[in-house]
Amino acid sequence: MSALLFSPLTIKNVTFKNRIAMAPMCMYSSFSEDGHTSHWHQHHYESRAAGQVGLVMIEATTVMANGAISPQDLGIYSSDHIEGLKNLTDGIHNHGAKAGIQLAHAGRKANYDGRIMAPSAIAFDEENRIPDEMTANDIQELIQYFKKAAERARIAGFDVIELHGAHGYLINQFLSPLSNHRTDDYGGTKENRFRLLKEITEAVTVVWDGPLFVRLSADEYHPEGNQPEDLIEYGRLLKELGVDLIDCSSGGVVRTAIETYPGYQISYAENMRKKAGLLTGAVGLITNPHMAEEIIHNGRADMILIGRELLRNPYWPLEAAKSLGAKEVEPPRQYLAGWM
Ligand code: FNR
Repeated sequence: MSALLFSPLTIKNVTFKNRIAMAPMCMYSSFSEDGHTSHWHQHHYESRAAGQVGLVMIEATTVMANGAISPQDLGIYSSDHIEGLKNLTDGIHNHGAKAGIQLAHAGRKANYDGRIMAPSAIAFDEENRIPDEMTANDIQELIQYFKKAAERARIAGFDVIELHGAHGYLINQFLSPLSNHRTDDYGGTKENRFRLLKEITEAVTVVWDGPLFVRLSADEYHPEGNQPEDLIEYGRLLKELGVDLIDCSSGGVVRTAIETYPGYQISYAENMRKKAGLLTGAVGLITNPHMAEEIIHNGRADMILIGRELLRNPYWPLEAAKSLGAKEVEPPRQYLAGWM
């Protein structure tokens, strides 16, 4: 029996050669400090593609200068960023992997010298500044920046866009009653808190018809925050808007203790898949190929995102193939001698 982890998956016009994706991970390595890619990004992402992941998801890339988590974040807020990103997608494609980019804005978690903004003027914690409450104009401007970023991602050759709606960054700040105390159309009810993500998704799909993923924090681990069932409701709404896959993560809206253990977020992906009826990605302490295979085989998720294990071992997919007996999976021909 062949391993389903290495079976292809087609979403819209894109076929991924297997179910393994590199999870988005900030490298804080835009050394020019203006959002441009560096030699680090080039070899870092390309080597995971050489290691045979099916999808390389580029780290959280800010759609506005004031949305960066650090001065060394990647950016996609200017046409000048396209060339470096195109080099990344070319390098990834050379190895038969698909390239995705996570579009993000940090909101109140931004580390930016100028004005920072969020749904409400509430700081994340004592170490973070109090953000400005976004005006109606700020919201419209933000949506246009996401749309522009999606256009640039298309020009740069990306196959997948993921909207970062998790970990307490700006979209998540709107979704959560813990960080969104607005009294206008963008706050209050669940429907209103969803409005920003809805309008961003609608704007992005005007210029992007490829696979669209959204990363959500499926649990806020707080009694007054969104509960897992609320996030499933958002998953259903996102499906109606044309979103293909929910990448199910958790936490980050407020500081809470999270108990982590192997596969600690798989049940979120499983429930989302069953109850919202769209594709899901499972992520979080998945390091064992047999665990990854079980998740796909039992229909608990459609893609497996691997984070830190791929930092330790860029060739994780090749080793997983070996241990699952997927003989058809091969390294680049230059490395074949090492894998016989
Ligand atoms: C992350 N993570 C993360 N998540 C995200 O949505 N956007 C990002 O840019 C980052 N950045 C990031 C940097 C680094 C160094 C790490 C370790 C993690 C979270 C990541 O995508 C993943 O969800 C978690 O690491 C859990 O998966 P693993 O590492 O247990 O496989």
